[in-house]
Amino acid sequence: MRVQVAIIGSGPAGLLLGQLLHLAGIDAVIVEQRSKEYVLGRIRAGVLEQCMVDMMERAQIAGRLRAEGLVHEGIEILFGGERHRIDLQGLSGKHVTVYGQTEVTRDLMDARAAAGAKSVYEADNVTVHGFDGKRPVVRYRKEGAAHEIECDFIAGCDGFHGVCRPSVPQSAITEHERVYAFGWLGVLADVPPVSEELIYVSHERGFALCSMRSRTRSRYYIQCELDDKVENWPDQLFWAELARRLDDRARSRLVTGPSLEKSIAPLRSYVAEPMRFGRLLLAGDAAHIVPPTGAKGLNLAASDVHYLSNALIEYYRSGKTSALDAYSGQCLRRVWQAVRFSWWMTNLLHLFPENGSFGRKIQCAEFDYLMNSRAAGTSLAENYVGLPY
Ligand code: FAD
Ligand code: PHB
Repeated sequence: MRVQVAIIGSGPAGLLLGQLLHLAGIDAVIVEQRSKEYVLGRIRAGVLEQCMVDMMERAQIAGRLRAEGLVHEGIEILFGGERHRIDLQGLSGKHVTVYGQTEVTRDLMDARAAAGAKSVYEADNVTVHGFDGKRPVVRYRKEGAAHEIECDFIAGCDGFHGVCRPSVPQSAITEHERVYAFGWLGVLADVPPVSEELIYVSHERGFALCSMRSRTRSRYYIQCELDDKVENWPDQLFWAELARRLDDRARSRLVTGPSLEKSIAPLRSYVAEPMRFGRLLLAGDAAHIVPPTGAKGLNLAASDVHYLSNALIEYYRSGKTSALDAYSGQCLRRVWQAVRFSWWMTNLLHLFPENGSFGRKIQCAEFDYLMNSRAAGTSLAENYVGLPY
């Protein structure tokens, strides 16, 4: 097979890039190691920045999002028993939209199928070659047969555990990392959310988050030990622990029910620099990871794709490489802003026993400042709704 762009990975980054290239008349294939159903079954992010919603409009896949997405003009923080609302709309002039990553993925897959665009699912042993020259090649196996794709560019959209980043010589890449000593235990359940808006909770027993996917489906998280197992958390135990971390108002409104999904995610901040290696360009989790506290992972994948699609479109329209040359620098500037914000939110709201009473006092002072300073609230709001592209 010969295409202009070979996209590795069918997560939001790869699918969104595929759709934008398709609309620009650029020939691309998506190569994914898992099945479509497996990709759709992963429960992940749920909060979209305005810029990401705008991108979905540009990608002509925003119909269902417009109808079903929930506009949120604020978030609540429950810190040590005290509640504070951050008026996102009032402080930043923007809002966020609650719409699950699963739905974004489904909308993109449907558009791709309707357009008859090329996709290969369940590709085994995907490898990337020759991206330091002019003719990169992607190889994979499917149903026992070997396949090869020749292309102009490879887009590495294959997530944190993908094959693209590890294919770059170690000497060409610089990694920056912080691994946190805890994880998030998440539960999805068909019960009405405890509140109209998301509640981020800092409690002496640990962090909790009350989120949602719709008016009838809730997503809750609690901070847990890194080596904890979902088997240790039957539904009743989870609901009891969540309830303990809430205030009376939220507790009285908490509706419990059987979990549809339950998983533990580790928390990590990670950035690989640069994001371009000749004709291999990384986007999304393949290049960087943030802890989910700032709701930024999915949104960063979208902003990378914004820069990458524009650069490839410029290249194929005019032959100019200036936007491709600027790609890595442009992305990384916004990535580091999101890494900083996610790290800050994580530090403010989680339990860090190793930081002792000093650490807790600093958190309390930070929250006090947030409650009483419009400038501090504005800073949180403009980062949460997303810095401009
Ligand atoms: P991915 O969604 O990871 O997609 C990469 C794709 O590449 C996958 O489909 C994978 O199967 C495929 N792939 C991997 N290796 C290969 C290979 N060798 N060959 C071919 N294909 C390959 N963000 C939030 O904002 N809020 C959250 O609550 C949240 N929860 C998360 C929970 C978990 C468990 C994880 C892992 C992430 C979570 N995130 C969350 C982050 C967010 O989901 C990601 O930032 C987002 O999925 C990034 O999209 P992506 O397309 O870059 O990568
Ligand atoms: C979610 O709904 O899954 C979610 C929302 C906000 C976050 C993280 C996860 O910060």
